[in-house]
Amino acid sequence: MPDALPDRVTIYEVGPRDGLQNESALVPTPTKAEFVRRLLAAGLPVVEATSFVHPRWVPQLADAAELLGELGEAGRDLPVLVPNERGLDRALELGCRHVAIFGSATETFAQRNLNRSLDEQFAMFEPTVARAREHGLDVRAYVSMCFGDPWEGDVAIDQVVDVGRRLVDLGASQLSLGDTIGVGTAGHVRRLLTAFNEAGLPDDVLAVHFHDTYGQALTNAHAALEHGVTTFDASAGGLGGCPYAESATGNLATEDLVWLLQGLGVETGVDLAALVETSRWMAGVLGRPSPSRVVQALSPA
Ligand code: HMG
Ligand code: MG
Repeated sequence: MPDALPDRVTIYEVGPRDGLQNESALVPTPTKAEFVRRLLAAGLPVVEATSFVHPRWVPQLADAAELLGELGEAGRDLPVLVPNERGLDRALELGCRHVAIFGSATETFAQRNLNRSLDEQFAMFEPTVARAREHGLDVRAYVSMCFGDPWEGDVAIDQVVDVGRRLVDLGASQLSLGDTIGVGTAGHVRRLLTAFNEAGLPDDVLAVHFHDTYGQALTNAHAALEHGVTTFDASAGGLGGCPYAESATGNLATEDLVWLLQGLGVETGVDLAALVETSRWMAGVLGRPSPSRVVQALSPA
């Protein structure tokens, strides 16, 4: 654990992707583009825009190409999810410079989310990452179900580290550790991060991705910050989930994270008022209030 907190951390905004992929409402493409632009204007340094997955699997993001068309040159610097070479081809055609693959720490979720076994997922990712790197793209890798799985229960730390290590060995520059169903608690976060460090992956290669199902996401982010992690995934207004994971509710709300970090004197570059305004607008689009406590507290009665 470092002696002091960092002066600055990076918030990796996943609202347009992880948030909107799980909304029952289909948000029009121009509205998504406006959401992304407003997030960038509010100072979020990284905004994951969409996914090049099979449109039947995630119809909410079937307009990925149209969205990138709307976003123009700025869209090319925004990370997009690609599960396989087909997804990569679609991203390359549009000039994307950052992609993210998403692996599973468990057998059941690999089957349900990727239609592959745990081992088969690496065979799918290997040529995807190799070709992305040949084209000069930066590759992030997610690991899902790092803290528990709705079908398999507890997930052994060694198993998570093994999957994460293999994804980094394929050529990913950053590994985002997903608590897909939000069951993790702070001690587990510390144990998992320590296990990754012991396996040769330092904190600057790691990011954390917490869902808030059990109300632990902010506490877990704090534990990861104290451990030494400096990249935090979050979703504006707490939108989100995963359509292929039972009980995966919204991500850690970006506003709640920014509020904590401001209080700790850790810089994020985010204009909280502009971000809250954006989430309030998106809540109006979706027709339901934001679950973020900070959005609620900073909204006029
Ligand atoms: P599959 O059916 O096994 O695919 O799906 P396939 O390789 O057998 O191909 C079947 C057909 O799909 C072919 O077309 C392909 O061309 C087409 P046909 O020849 O039959 O006409 N195809 C595609 N089309 C468009 N884009 C593609 C693509 N790939 C194949 N990329 C696949 C395998 C991986 C595609 C499917 O399982 C899939 O799309 N899964 C995505 C699921 C998903 O997006 N889940 C949510 C994201 S993960 C998440 O949210 C967790 C995270 O937030 C972290 C956390 O919280 O833990 C990241
Ligand atoms: Mg997620």
